[in-house]
Amino acid sequence: MIREADWYRKRSFYQIWVRSFADGNGDGIGDLYGVYEKLDYVKSLGVDGIWFSPLYPSPNADFGYDISDYKSIHPEYGDLNQFQKVLDKAHALNLAVVMDLVINHTSDEHPWFLESKKGRDNPYSDYYIWRDKPNNWKSILEGEAWEYDETRGQYYLHLFAKKQPDLNMDNPKVREEVKSILRFWLELGVDGFREDVITFISKKEGLPDGLPFIPVINGMPHYKDGPNLMSYLKEFREVCREYNAFQIGEGPMTTVSSVLRYTTGEGKVLDMMFSFDHMLADCLFTQFVRRPFSLIKLKKAFSKWQHALNQKGWNALYLENHDHPRIVSRYGSNRFRRESACMFAACYLFQKGTPFIYQGQEIGMTNIRLRDINHYADLSSRMNFKTHFQHENDEKRMRRIHHSSRDSSRTPMQWSAKRYAGFSTVKPWFYINRNYKEVNVAAQENDSASVLNFYRRCLSLRKHSKTLLWGEYKEYEPGNEHIYLYERSLGDVRYLVLCSFSHISRTVALPRPYRDRKLYLMLCNYEQGAWDEKARDDHFAALGSVLPHRITLQPYETRVYRCRL
Ligand code: GLC
Ligand code: CA
Repeated sequence: MIREADWYRKRSFYQIWVRSFADGNGDGIGDLYGVYEKLDYVKSLGVDGIWFSPLYPSPNADFGYDISDYKSIHPEYGDLNQFQKVLDKAHALNLAVVMDLVINHTSDEHPWFLESKKGRDNPYSDYYIWRDKPNNWKSILEGEAWEYDETRGQYYLHLFAKKQPDLNMDNPKVREEVKSILRFWLELGVDGFREDVITFISKKEGLPDGLPFIPVINGMPHYKDGPNLMSYLKEFREVCREYNAFQIGEGPMTTVSSVLRYTTGEGKVLDMMFSFDHMLADCLFTQFVRRPFSLIKLKKAFSKWQHALNQKGWNALYLENHDHPRIVSRYGSNRFRRESACMFAACYLFQKGTPFIYQGQEIGMTNIRLRDINHYADLSSRMNFKTHFQHENDEKRMRRIHHSSRDSSRTPMQWSAKRYAGFSTVKPWFYINRNYKEVNVAAQENDSASVLNFYRRCLSLRKHSKTLLWGEYKEYEPGNEHIYLYERSLGDVRYLVLCSFSHISRTVALPRPYRDRKLYLMLCNYEQGAWDEKARDDHFAALGSVLPHRITLQPYETRVYRCRL
């Protein structure tokens, strides 16, 4: 694809977690045949790109994030030929394709690891991080961060699951492998990479102990933003630059200063990063440690990043992905499912940055509740249940699982009210949310008030507005506990976005600059005339009106106004 510099800033992306997206060959598992058939649907949303969670061969200990072959496609999902077909069709539709790059670790079934564990004197011996004595780091997914290997007679480091041994990025051969992986996919024609836990790839020399009393992340100060991270990322950047490829890094618990370091200036090594602050408005570090939802916290996180990166970097905007439960069930309301799902769209898609939408988010899918912990597929859910909050009874801990499990975003996509939600013709690999008869793509296609069509309107509005793409961000009423109010402005054009996070009606003062002038309602999730198709297509076709100084918003109502000052 021919592209201008920074082409990805204007775009919005759709994330596909292929296993649960669409089953094209009738075995109950989502695949690239299904993706191929659904590309027109993806395009119809108004997005301009796809991020594929890992498609590579994997024993699926961590569902694709444990890779056993970086240059191939998991046989359950298709083959390279089918991938090429998907890629070509995506490009024909002007959808960029971003692959997941998971290089902090491999699967323990990767041939490199199988060789490495054979002994200290083989060519792959230093591909991983081996030690006679472990330090005290905890892993993020599965207990201690070290596992003893009988064959080699040493411990290997795994920051995630036992089946995900960490690569030794200090070994130049490993970095050459990474570059060769990049080239492989870039030569096929992919447009960029989402780089998994990329800030963890360089560990502090000597692997010092972490604080003993901190669970799960005690080693983080010694492996996050490590000493050689910048220089390793520079090497990878050089390869990507040859292809003008896009690189977005995942930065768990990342900070503004790190993001600015990696994504700005001449020596930038990434284009943007996923940060996490706004995912902590109802929990501490993980969803398993729940707190009451605080809109103030959420707004603080939003505005903090909007201001910090303004005119310097660029935000990656998201509310859901394969690691987080569904946003409606978290920050919204099941009772006002449609209203809150639409409100979430407006609350983040109009911020400054590149939006990412996770499969199912665009129809307002919600969390699943399974009765038995053994029915959960995600190993972190099972680990949390077994190891944390042991003083609580099973029922209480199950409730935590219902709120926190990554499986909630990994249930099969709800395409229709047909059997198996139209995801497959046979029993799917995982449980389907019981609400699929009501919440599905087919039902929403022809309903102009649906979440799906609201997303389409939002994305189209964003795409066609210079103000929404490039304008300045400003928040009003930061202390309001129920309503999020923000503005985007460019030249004399202003957009005002109002979002109610309340299950009852709430009144808010119209910000001064908007008083006594004509405002044009561009979008609303309640019937107010904004469903008029003309209003969507021609921004000024809708009749403007002067609003009262106080506006009452209905439960989870959102409105987007435009005006000229
Ligand atoms: C990232 C992925 C997550 C995975 C972890 C280890 O956070 O998004 O799904 O478990 O890295 O690869
Ligand atoms: Ca299949």
